[in-house]
Amino acid sequence: MSTRRPIVAANWKMNKTQPETAEFLSAFLPLLGPACASDVVIVPPFTSVPKASEFLRNHPVVGLGAQNMHPKPNGAFTGEIGAPFLVDLGVTHVVLGHSERRQYFAESDAFINEKVRAALAAGLTPILCIGETLEERDAGRLEAVCRTQLQGGLALVAADAAPKVVIAYEPVWAIGTGRTASPAQAQEAHAFVRSVLADLFGHAIAGQIRIQYGGSMKPDNAVELMAQPDVDGGLIGGASLQPESFFAIIKAAAESVA
Ligand code: PGA
Repeated sequence: MSTRRPIVAANWKMNKTQPETAEFLSAFLPLLGPACASDVVIVPPFTSVPKASEFLRNHPVVGLGAQNMHPKPNGAFTGEIGAPFLVDLGVTHVVLGHSERRQYFAESDAFINEKVRAALAAGLTPILCIGETLEERDAGRLEAVCRTQLQGGLALVAADAAPKVVIAYEPVWAIGTGRTASPAQAQEAHAFVRSVLADLFGHAIAGQIRIQYGGSMKPDNAVELMAQPDVDGGLIGGASLQPESFFAIIKAAAESVA
């Protein structure tokens, strides 16, 4: 059995104002209680991070994430936020290279790589998102696409820093569509991702890196997905917006290592 501690993150995307953030966390934190067999991360939109921080700064179980970050710490980058601004608010994790950013904001692997390295240098845990589109999968390019995104996104990351990185494998065709990868499809892709990580950093380190599944993960499919040997948690969009459904997914992750 894997010794990797699962990590389940709530990617709220452009949802939840500050009052809504407070309402969620007031209901969610009592469900979770003081201990959990899984790491949990709440990733609100930037403007709700300060409110979430009131609840989560130095929390024993729940980390606080940001949905993006600029690689430079400060300067003339209108509209952007660098690592020191996040650290200042008690942020612990940062989602990088989400497919929505790759698709709508044309983020390249090279730019994402700058962010990954800046996040690590600032002591933040990067959650690096990768995954193929339906067109790419149908064309038999899943492995080539994931390999390119991993090699590009993790370039120049030192082997001793690599275990801190979390990879989120998110097939683009499963995000927000209600169409989930089958447990077998997820396991096959995750095992491939781990093999690329082994090429980059060696087997021992690849065995420590957590790989989340993302894409329409819900309470009713989480148990089977998390039971796969190379699935180490989830990056949850839609089902993370309600405390009960997000908590049910966390329970599934905890059971997978019980
Ligand atoms: P979804 O989103 O759970 O709504 O499919 C996952 C993600 O985009 O991180």
